[in-house]
Amino acid sequence: MNAHRKVLMGKPPVVSYQELLAMDERPSPSFFARTTLDLGTDPIPASNYTSPEYFEREKHKMWFRTWQYAVGEDEIPNSGDTYVYELLGQQVIVVRQTDGSIRAFKNVCRHRGRKLVGESACKTSFRCAYHGLTWSLDGKLIENPFAWDFPQLGADDIPLLDVRCESWAGLVFINLDPEAKPLLEVMAPMPDHFAHWKMENCYKSAHVGKIADANWKVCAEAFIEPHHVICTHPEYNLFSGYDSTQHDILSDHVSRFMSPTGVTPGPFLDRDIDDNRRLELMLAAGNRALDMSKKVELPEGMSSRTFSANSVRQMVAERTGYDISENSDADVLDGIAYDFFPNFHLWGGFKDKISYRFRPISHNKTLMEVFMFSLAPKDGPRPKSAEMLMLRDDQKWCEATQLGSLAPVFDQDYSNMGPVQEGLVALGDEGLHLSKYMEVRCRNLHRMVEEYMNR
Ligand code: FES
Ligand SMILES: [Fe+2]
Repeated sequence: MNAHRKVLMGKPPVVSYQELLAMDERPSPSFFARTTLDLGTDPIPASNYTSPEYFEREKHKMWFRTWQYAVGEDEIPNSGDTYVYELLGQQVIVVRQTDGSIRAFKNVCRHRGRKLVGESACKTSFRCAYHGLTWSLDGKLIENPFAWDFPQLGADDIPLLDVRCESWAGLVFINLDPEAKPLLEVMAPMPDHFAHWKMENCYKSAHVGKIADANWKVCAEAFIEPHHVICTHPEYNLFSGYDSTQHDILSDHVSRFMSPTGVTPGPFLDRDIDDNRRLELMLAAGNRALDMSKKVELPEGMSSRTFSANSVRQMVAERTGYDISENSDADVLDGIAYDFFPNFHLWGGFKDKISYRFRPISHNKTLMEVFMFSLAPKDGPRPKSAEMLMLRDDQKWCEATQLGSLAPVFDQDYSNMGPVQEGLVALGDEGLHLSKYMEVRCRNLHRMVEEYMNR
């Protein structure tokens, strides 16, 4: 192989994620173990993203049979609080009951089918605006002004239509498939892992949405591998070790990557930068591990990775009162990103947990939402969940100041979505060529869509 060809082929990673963990002074949790799956190397058809017929099958066979994060329990705290969740023409109301439990129903009147609830609000009952038939919060028909003229119906014959609704860590999920397996079973092992990162004690500190002109898989795939840093987020190149990232398929529905921070990836090692320079670059990029209000001085002999991890430990202690001094550098510092098939993404760790939800609108349009889940102060009152900010087409993500230093990063990610969709249309019947290991999570996404469509 000649030299030019070698450059084209790139070099394999210098250090693996497990080798980095072994260098940590403190042990990482056992669930950081590598769990991969060989999904082969076959091309992925471009039509998976562009075909309206394919999308129609996805809708009925997959979207209406999978668990969807709908709303936070703390966003409907009082009896009658009702949240309207929409997905592909299906409308679901999630409502707090008088006994404190939460139920979900299809948002439709069982008389002549009018949508029952217009907007999320607090209700004492559900009265249809058309002819006034009324249901209680638990879905029983309690008033029918024309009951005498319905000889065919008994009092209990037309309750509101139940929708499966189960919670995890204060988040309510719905599933339109009455036969679906329980949420926690499908979501395993994510609940166990996130108990370690105190997800139960987190609240939604930011929520921003924007429509993307791309298939939902194009949007999701922008966030399930970190090597797009090389071109999309070049300011992160010299300190985010994307080539040492571990990519795990933890179950059919759960995958993750673990991407080290404060490590220079192989392709940039010839720049020969030292730990001081790495820290300067992290500061310049607004990396969330560092407290921008504090002076950064690297003690003699300390690596930028350990310094950044200490910085996170200190920030978490100051802001929340939690002591994570015994947690490993990887545990407190690295980018650990999970996704729960099909569309709920959540980062682990103790910093604000980045989260995404991708809700398809059509085969080439998606509502992309970004959330932050922050650790609430250990002893203080739990802050209120953030309201959603919906960005217009002419607004950029960087206008969403609640996303902090990440806001411009989302503009970078977003900038690929429309052009990828356009390119995929132009590809026609050609396939996409995914890498074998680093893009295994993209491949798994397609595998699972097909799996549902073949059920
Ligand atoms: S359609 Fe709802 S009461 Fe008639
Ligand atoms: Fe990105």
